[in-house]
Amino acid sequence: MSTVYLNGEFIPKDEAKISVDDRGFLFADGVYEVTPFYEGVPFYLDRHLARLRRGLSWMRIDYDTEGLPDIHRRLLELNELEDADTAMVYLQITRGVAPRSHPFPRDPVPPTVYAFAKTWQRPSQEDWDRGFAAVTMPDRRWTRVDIKTIALLPNVLAYQAAVDAGATDAIQVRDGVALEGAHNNLFGVLDGTVVTHPVTNVILPGITRSVVLELARRNGIPAEERPILVEELADAEELFFTGTTNEVRPTVRVDGRPVADGKVGPVTRALAAAFAREVRKVKEAAVGVSAR
Ligand code: PDD
Repeated sequence: MSTVYLNGEFIPKDEAKISVDDRGFLFADGVYEVTPFYEGVPFYLDRHLARLRRGLSWMRIDYDTEGLPDIHRRLLELNELEDADTAMVYLQITRGVAPRSHPFPRDPVPPTVYAFAKTWQRPSQEDWDRGFAAVTMPDRRWTRVDIKTIALLPNVLAYQAAVDAGATDAIQVRDGVALEGAHNNLFGVLDGTVVTHPVTNVILPGITRSVVLELARRNGIPAEERPILVEELADAEELFFTGTTNEVRPTVRVDGRPVADGKVGPVTRALAAAFAREVRKVKEAAVGVSAR
């Protein structure tokens, strides 16, 4: 039985109970974060928490995030995941419990805070080397997808449509622009330049995206933040997705057609290798700190 965190307590999962009046349940009135851990070491937790604070503030949910690093660490420990190669903590904060009525509760209620830890698996090297398929589909989400709310129905439907089509990822298209995936950010290599959509209200500002952009620039790979037109997908030299549980994931087919020669490209490989080095560096830095 896993141990979860709910409203100040670490308890067995089957004892965790949430009210039917929770505004997360009734209205999807909440935000969430997913932070990766490598051998117990959080990867860019500060950026995940900064994005969470921005969401909370925009949603006008009053919650002090100061205790969160400790809650993350305890969850890893209590679930014996400190040595897991790849783990993550899911954290969700809703506006709290109040009888159903659209406006915010007149008398403030405490937010509901729930978190759990689990492992996640990388694809085998063989599968990664073969690459993955994606399908394009219309983006049916609202116009503030930069806020990481728990209202994920369009993302769920997009992901399921990809699965139904025998693909791994969904490329969400709005106004002729290939924006991002159902739960990850899209990158293209176009004319030798790594391209990804700029941070605006129509994509989620992925933490992995930000790290990969920095790694590209640090490794002398030209990178540009600009919209990728859906027509450009046909001419892309390479495509890949980034995300917390995807790291750098190559796409070799879109809507049944091969991307370039249908093989994982050199830029994707270079960035995946740089990402693996970054993970190692963050782990080693953490070990250095605890040894002191
Ligand atoms: N998904 N775009 C969307 C729509 C996302 O939901 C996510 C994250 C990302 C990538 O962000 P990051 O690199 O910070 O993980 C991009 C999380 C992991 C999820 O819902 O499981």
